[in-house]
Amino acid sequence: MTKKITVNTIKKYKESGEKFSVLTAYDYSTAKYIDEAGIDAVLIGDSLAMTALGYETTHCVGMEEMLIFTKAVARGVSHAMVVTDMPFLSYHTDIASAVNNCGLMIKNGANAVKIEGYSDYILDVIKRLTQSGIPVMGHLGFTPQFLNTLGGYKIQGKTPEAVEEILNQAKALEKAGVFSIVLEMVPESGAKHITENLTVPTISCGAGRYCDAQVLVCDDVFGKFSDFKPKFARKYCDMKSLILECAKKYNDDVKSGRFPSDDEVF
Ligand code: KIV
Repeated sequence: MTKKITVNTIKKYKESGEKFSVLTAYDYSTAKYIDEAGIDAVLIGDSLAMTALGYETTHCVGMEEMLIFTKAVARGVSHAMVVTDMPFLSYHTDIASAVNNCGLMIKNGANAVKIEGYSDYILDVIKRLTQSGIPVMGHLGFTPQFLNTLGGYKIQGKTPEAVEEILNQAKALEKAGVFSIVLEMVPESGAKHITENLTVPTISCGAGRYCDAQVLVCDDVFGKFSDFKPKFARKYCDMKSLILECAKKYNDDVKSGRFPSDDEVF
């Protein structure tokens, strides 16, 4: 029986320099297999808005949907840390509702929450959450919930000044109490500099090889989501083709009378 991954395990990984893996999952059985494969943390990313629900952006999911997916994933996981993405506007209006919404995720099986961005208000939210016993993963660089204010899917930290700005934000997040920080779409050299100057681990989402950990969207890894493929993602299998092939065979079998067979009837 493998031990449950906690914030202490993540802290030890950073101290020892051992890399760790994060992968998203949205449903019970996928979460179960990802956990069995030994992935360290399973993220119920709000990317599910696009991959599981077919919306155009992550803005379209709310607490209700994120709770359903969180419960399903948490039921499938016994070893990995379960981290839930807090959806758009679920932590922005005031600290009390941020704590209540994040607390609801913990009550329903998450071990930690992820929140995007940096501001004085976000720092207060992080402080209050950690004081309430809710571990927080930060998220800097490209932050999809800020898509409209960032002006599109744009690489962040392209100049030395911009890298320093992200580093300062990361240090402030670290001071406020986050246990790790996702860096999304940041050039590798900048992400390396940021990683080397933090005591909490960085998790690369398109931020290169020198972060302490890597995160990808499971539908990209399994080749299931085909609307677009981020440059930084790696497809390890072609589930789309597999599903198409199986669905076509089943369709043929039903229509030709080959399904069900003698073994498949009562
Ligand atoms: O929503 C998501 O899946 C994410 C990661 C890929 C970092 O935020």
